[in-house]
Amino acid sequence: MKVFEHKNSLQAAIEAEKIAGKSIGFVPTMGALHQGHLELMRQAKKETDILVVSIFVNPIQFNNPADLENYPRTLETDKALLETVDCDYLFAPDVDEMYPQPDTTVYRFGKLASVMEGAFRPGHFNGVAVVVKKLFEMVNPDKAFFGEKDFQQLAIIKAMTKQLSLPVEIVPCATVRESDGLAMSSRNRRLSTDERQLAPRIHQILSKAATLRNVLSPHEMQQYAKNELDKIDVFNLEYVAVADDVDLQSFEHWNSVLGARIFVALQLGNVRLIDNIRIF
Ligand code: PAJ
Repeated sequence: MKVFEHKNSLQAAIEAEKIAGKSIGFVPTMGALHQGHLELMRQAKKETDILVVSIFVNPIQFNNPADLENYPRTLETDKALLETVDCDYLFAPDVDEMYPQPDTTVYRFGKLASVMEGAFRPGHFNGVAVVVKKLFEMVNPDKAFFGEKDFQQLAIIKAMTKQLSLPVEIVPCATVRESDGLAMSSRNRRLSTDERQLAPRIHQILSKAATLRNVLSPHEMQQYAKNELDKIDVFNLEYVAVADDVDLQSFEHWNSVLGARIFVALQLGNVRLIDNIRIF
């Protein structure tokens, strides 16, 4: 694996691969890699010739300074993990390399960005869109791989790609979970032992709620999940939402949408966790 800190040398290496007829698969990350990230990379390896991974903790997508400060940074372990999936190029720039000057682009994603994470983390998706657009320009990938764990982010990236007519295919990948159901996340390593024991309840409650589709309305399902999550004192709930799987809006009747998911965000101690699962 070759490691690049500068975009010019990365671009030159990728350009040479392209001239040799190789297709480029790209997995952007913020590091502290886990099996969820690695699964995206395995998928990329199957579908494209050259795997490019970026590790960059993007300051402008953090609306909470403490979250940015505490975000785990484990570059040396990450490099070893990247070798196990046969990553070809790692791009690990510093903040000045990514933002030689502030990027003030403002994207408009309408109602897609006004709900859930968009409502609770002002500016977050704009920061994600800015960095992913810049990374796409640097890597020029044929395909880019994103996890359904961050389902709304995936929808935003699809929308941006469409808005700007970017020549990249966005490939969604299923959420990878621990054996007890907890969605893998870089933030999980900041949970205490007690918090880690309670965290799988999130997935259990969402799964149970999703099975009640034939007996509950969408609103009742949302209320059911909210009540169950509220019973766990240490869960500080931000939102639970039942939404369609395209525009991520709430709706009244099951038969008014083609697909639906249930979403949650909560604070557990100092750690903010999100998850979602498919209802149908
Ligand atoms: P990060 O949280 O590091 O996630 C990188 C990619 O891994 C995202 O596409 C995310 O959805 C995916 N991922 C994380 N946990 C997963 C899991 N348990 N199963 C499947 N996929 C999972 O998301 C970001 O970084 C950033 O916002 C980024 C897109 C890199 C822009 O800065």
